Amino acid sequence: MTQWQKSDWRSKPRIQMPDYTDAAALSAAEARLTQYPPLVFAGEARRLKKQLGAASRGEAFLLQGGDCAESFEQFSADAIRDTFKVMLQMAMVLTYGAKVPVVKVGRMAGQFAKPRSAPTEVVNGVELPSYRGDIINDLAFTPESRIPNPDKMLQAYTQAAATLNLLRAFSTGGYADVHQVHAWTLGFTESAKAAKYREMANHISDALDFMTAAGIDSDRAHTLKTVDFYTSHESLLLEYEEALTRLDSTSGKWLAGSGHMLWIGDRTRQPDGAHVDFLSGVLNPIGLKCGPTMTSEDLKLLLAKLNPTNEAGRLTLIARFGAGKVADNLPRLIKTVQDEGANVLWVCDPMHGNTIKSATGYKTRPFESVLREVREFFGAHKTEGTIPGGVHFEMTGQDVTECTGGMRALSDENLSDRYHTACDPRLNASQSLELAFLVAEELSALRVERQQAEAG
Ligand code: PEP
Ligand code: CO
Repeated sequence: MTQWQKSDWRSKPRIQMPDYTDAAALSAAEARLTQYPPLVFAGEARRLKKQLGAASRGEAFLLQGGDCAESFEQFSADAIRDTFKVMLQMAMVLTYGAKVPVVKVGRMAGQFAKPRSAPTEVVNGVELPSYRGDIINDLAFTPESRIPNPDKMLQAYTQAAATLNLLRAFSTGGYADVHQVHAWTLGFTESAKAAKYREMANHISDALDFMTAAGIDSDRAHTLKTVDFYTSHESLLLEYEEALTRLDSTSGKWLAGSGHMLWIGDRTRQPDGAHVDFLSGVLNPIGLKCGPTMTSEDLKLLLAKLNPTNEAGRLTLIARFGAGKVADNLPRLIKTVQDEGANVLWVCDPMHGNTIKSATGYKTRPFESVLREVREFFGAHKTEGTIPGGVHFEMTGQDVTECTGGMRALSDENLSDRYHTACDPRLNASQSLELAFLVAEELSALRVERQQAEAG
């Protein structure tokens, strides 16, 4: 077999990618990006892979979350900080319930390109090409805005670099210190869950005070004062991905330098297609979205292509079937994985199978369906005796009104209040926290069961 090349995807069938009209502008943008530094380093990707391997064995749990699509217009330090803060709160709730480390991965610093269900969009009888994310074209409904512009890749890179810089500062500069557990609360998470969070935070503070008094704090101080926070996005725009791919001199392998973890979307997972080919050759941990149309045959081919050495932590299967459809799909795919003896991490994305159009015309997701799919995911793993290793959410720290339901019972009529997403509807801060408590309950029940089984 000939060696994989980062440009091999160019000779494979590709879908969901733009046809750039200005070839010279495209080459110039690619040449620029090729000169730019990678955003992440091979050692970080390898460390994440190790942690995901632990999650696949039930020794850790993955929390992956962030925007559906990052936006140039809504880019701000406050928005990044708030999403980071909610993820820290959720991670704390999960750690407290599951008693295992929570691996934190943002859908951030690169989550710009979007697959679409239709190539064009019609508004008031006018048909234009679909919006494909800020790295490709503009949301504004004019013919000029919808022309794919390769220079937008450079702006996306700059925004990703600035985002990652801030995330690195938050992670290690004192902000994520566990002693700040109270300070991460956001003003508007006033709900029963916010009170529950404060109660948990009090317990944690007490435990920390106890540890300090007992002299345990000092050696471990670094562990408590910083977090590992990783970035991820869908590897959709392969010109951008290829240009940021670098040879890792330590291992002689290729690193996708645009983010720590990259995934293949449910629409672009054709075993012989461009997207699968590209991710098959990089050393990063990778994800594969699995929707209801994933067949056993395709999954077998994909397991072999994407993780031929069966390395732990390399491949995360992100189940996104929709509430009510998990029982028909997850057990059959779990069996395929078991038949192949494949090492995978199973994660639940309860967002993408639960998108509906509200009575008021907005794309939304009922919070009840999201919760139900999470429960069904845990239920199926319990029946099969396999490990539910993580969750994948579209969420934001902003107080948006995009998903209906939750403690504050958002209705269809409320959606127009603060509907800001450039693409799919996200959970707001209080809905995210509520969901974290539900997942923590499932995890702590699982832990009790395991302990009872071990006690015999
Ligand atoms: C997404 O994660 O935003 C997405 C498009 O998901 P999927 O590929 O599962 O539809
Ligand atoms: Co989405």
